[in-house]
Amino acid sequence: MNGQKVLEMNDVSVRRGNRVILGPINFSILEGERWVILGPNGAGKSTLLQILGTRIFPTTGQVSILDKTMGKVDLFELRTRIGICGALISEDIPYEEKVKDVVLTAAYAVLGRWNEAYDLWDESRAVALLTTFGVRELAERDYGTLSDGERKRVQISRALMADPELLLLDEPAAGLDVGGREDLLRRFSEFAADPLAPASILVTHHIEEIPVGTTHALILKEGNIAVSGPIAQVITSEHLSAIFEIPLEVHFDGARFTARSR
Ligand SMILES: Nc1ncnc2c1ncn2[C@@H]1O[C@H](COP(=O)(O)OP(=O)(O)OP(=O)(O)O)[C@@H](O)[C@H]1O
Ligand SMILES: [Mg+2]
Repeated sequence: MNGQKVLEMNDVSVRRGNRVILGPINFSILEGERWVILGPNGAGKSTLLQILGTRIFPTTGQVSILDKTMGKVDLFELRTRIGICGALISEDIPYEEKVKDVVLTAAYAVLGRWNEAYDLWDESRAVALLTTFGVRELAERDYGTLSDGERKRVQISRALMADPELLLLDEPAAGLDVGGREDLLRRFSEFAADPLAPASILVTHHIEEIPVGTTHALILKEGNIAVSGPIAQVITSEHLSAIFEIPLEVHFDGARFTARSR
């Protein structure tokens, strides 16, 4: 069922103090699209993701997510439909919690079922997600004992536990070694290739970290959209050189992007 709007932002801006840190921007995505957001430090990427994750409200403008207008809908209900993975969320995960429970409790937290016993279906879903992201064998470990890369995989599993319709990922591959990054990207691409996988928006600093199958890109600069659209038209030498203010040569091998200075 491609073609339905997953989200729409109209004239959205965020002000902090007397500075507008984002916008005003207009942006929408359709079902079946996989977006990547790029941009220099401080460009507003995480701010944009936090709005879409309903963690902050914009100062101006309208945001509709999954046909619900922010401000007119119970955020608790809307949050159950959005999976989010990023620094802001990961800080909430208790270190002494068992990995399997980190994933399982995501469903209980959003569904408000704290007092119910885990049912078998939930448990098998949690284990299946941990398997998809290659950390099945860590299910009984304490979250705090995991490496950064292992934590990232658990966080993505957690974000997907409640079967979201929109998945938001803020720098999922940051801090991973090259093997860990490649493995995570491969697993994510495989997952995202499923026609039933949710629409996704992934923020990254490195075009090498754009998963295969990403359809669209948006580049933010100083709080505004510098360029957005189908990925091949956005991730180009000309655009990146202009936005990052350094001569860059972008290469696309048919699946992945690389960039180096000219
Ligand atoms: N509460 C706040 N008060 C003042 N400024 C803020 C606040 N929150 C964010 N900012 C500023 O807004 C800008 C955008 O921040 P944001 O975290 O969205 O950037 P980003 O694109 O994610 O950057 P990075 O690549 O470094 O993660 C930054 O300049 C940041 O300092
Ligand atoms: Mg950020």
